[in-house]
Amino acid sequence: MADVKRDSLSRLPLTPVSNHRRCYTIIMTSHLTAARLIDQNVHLTWVNGGPDLVVSLFWLRDNCQEVTSQHPDTKQRLVDTFNLSTDISASVKVEKDGQQLAVKWSNEDPTSHFTSQFLAALRTNPEVLPNTRTLWDCGISEGVPEVAYIEFLKTDGALKDLLEKVQRFGLCFIEGVPGTAEATQLIAKRISYIRETIFGGYWDFTANMEHKDTAYTSMAIGPHTDGTYSFDAPGYQMFHCLAAECTGGENVLIDGFKMAKILSEDQPALYKVLTEVAIPGQYLDYDRGIHLMARRPLLRLDDSGDLVQVTYNNYDRAPFVLPPAQHALLYKALNAFNALCHDPSLHYRRRLLPGSVLLFDNWRVLHARDAYVGYRQLAGVYLNKEDVESRLRYLRIKAGETT
Ligand SMILES: [Fe+2]
Repeated sequence: MADVKRDSLSRLPLTPVSNHRRCYTIIMTSHLTAARLIDQNVHLTWVNGGPDLVVSLFWLRDNCQEVTSQHPDTKQRLVDTFNLSTDISASVKVEKDGQQLAVKWSNEDPTSHFTSQFLAALRTNPEVLPNTRTLWDCGISEGVPEVAYIEFLKTDGALKDLLEKVQRFGLCFIEGVPGTAEATQLIAKRISYIRETIFGGYWDFTANMEHKDTAYTSMAIGPHTDGTYSFDAPGYQMFHCLAAECTGGENVLIDGFKMAKILSEDQPALYKVLTEVAIPGQYLDYDRGIHLMARRPLLRLDDSGDLVQVTYNNYDRAPFVLPPAQHALLYKALNAFNALCHDPSLHYRRRLLPGSVLLFDNWRVLHARDAYVGYRQLAGVYLNKEDVESRLRYLRIKAGETT
């Protein structure tokens, strides 16, 4: 990639990018305009646009939410799907000013009712929470997302604000936090619960080699994501620097989705390689009886072809063999990705200090650390992807949004 082009990219304003069909879903109401029955399929349209939804009568019967079809408390399916007739007929009607779809079955009661909100949410891919991302580069230093600790503890609105910012930017700071381990854990537990891994739950490390990982040294660590050796890499991480009596040790954060976008535009063939070749990662500690291995493409796409995860740790890449020509191509692609990792125009640099807690998306943001001399104590936790998204999904519904 030519330097001129990279320089011009670094001057671009922060780039809003919706994860395609999902951008329309964060809306207060989703009223239906029409429900048309064509053959055995119901075609639904909405007041505020977005794509139509087509569902079959069979699907509607299978997903009926009346008390005889869905348990009123557990919301689990009671319908015997496999005893439903495939020759099913009904009439459909939009009711309550577009807020409800009624399906009156020809051969059975009761009529099934579906809220427009429920139906609107079906237009999204359930693998990833509907979200509009703002891709960033070094320019994020002019307006780093943050929330206040006191507000975060007191109100669900501030908790939602934090999680929305993490969804949009991949990171957010919580400011004004007491420099204690208790405060770190209090924040984590207000969001969800702490994930247990080989490092424990809450971790708190210095350069003591407690675990066989470079993080437990004072060496520089290049850009990476954690858990490439885990089938389900930690979705989010929290860092809280409890002591920084050292020189150096500045952290670097990079928007992996921005890197992927640059690569897809400038070197699409190499981008394609990184979306297709599953790369294994491993963690070895035979003293503790541990040999973790997992593999996935560095740029993992969902079944719609959308990027859902950046997963990269060259330190932990396990030996694996491809036919030589394919491996040469993979090395070329890794080299291109590594060049982006070390492009300062994509770096947000920050010295973490007590009082500021960083929460970031480990499926999106790469982190790195300069070497340091002196004493540094960093605390943190991992949070599961689905637990954090669950909390935000709930908070959105509570706020009257679709999802
Ligand atoms: Fe790390």
